[in-house]
Amino acid sequence: MNEYRLVYVSKRQEKLATADIKSIIQTAEEKNKSDHISGILLYSNRSFLQVLEGDLIKINQTFKRICQDPRHSEILLLSLNPIEHRFFSDWFMLLFNVDTIQNLDAALFDSSEKSLYHPFPLSGELAIEIGLLAKYYAKK
Ligand SMILES: Cc1cc2nc3c(=O)[nH]c(=O)nc-3n(C[C@H](O)[C@H](O)[C@H](O)COP(=O)(O)O)c2cc1C
Repeated sequence: MNEYRLVYVSKRQEKLATADIKSIIQTAEEKNKSDHISGILLYSNRSFLQVLEGDLIKINQTFKRICQDPRHSEILLLSLNPIEHRFFSDWFMLLFNVDTIQNLDAALFDSSEKSLYHPFPLSGELAIEIGLLAKYYAKK
């Protein structure tokens, strides 16, 4: 199997409501199901962090669509690596609100420059750790 894991962060569009995120997830779940993609979408008031796992070509196609989406901006690819096994195989797309883990968003995203979006120097590995932490919280 030629499976990969892709991680990116992005800036959430300011006017995006929680209901809009639910609708993103609905589409994501449908499409990912047919593409055999699994993953997690972490969101906060300001940001998204997404992990996509699956076939390299499918992930690439999905990521290209995601990059065109006006519901977020300043998309920053953190990592794309081959994997031995999936971390999020139980979900086509697990949705997780980072704000439920107190201060996590503040710790990850430096808000000192208000006009600019500054992802913390966040490595792909750290992002995956956060995803796994969220998986643990989601299962509780
Ligand atoms: C933060 C975010 C995450 C998304 N995640 C996925 C995803 O995991 N899978 C997916 O197919 N679309 C995802 N989308 C939606 C795509 O951008 C796109 O709207 C959708 O795939 C439909 O594409 P189409 O209209 O070209 O068919 C996401 C969008 C956003 C803003």
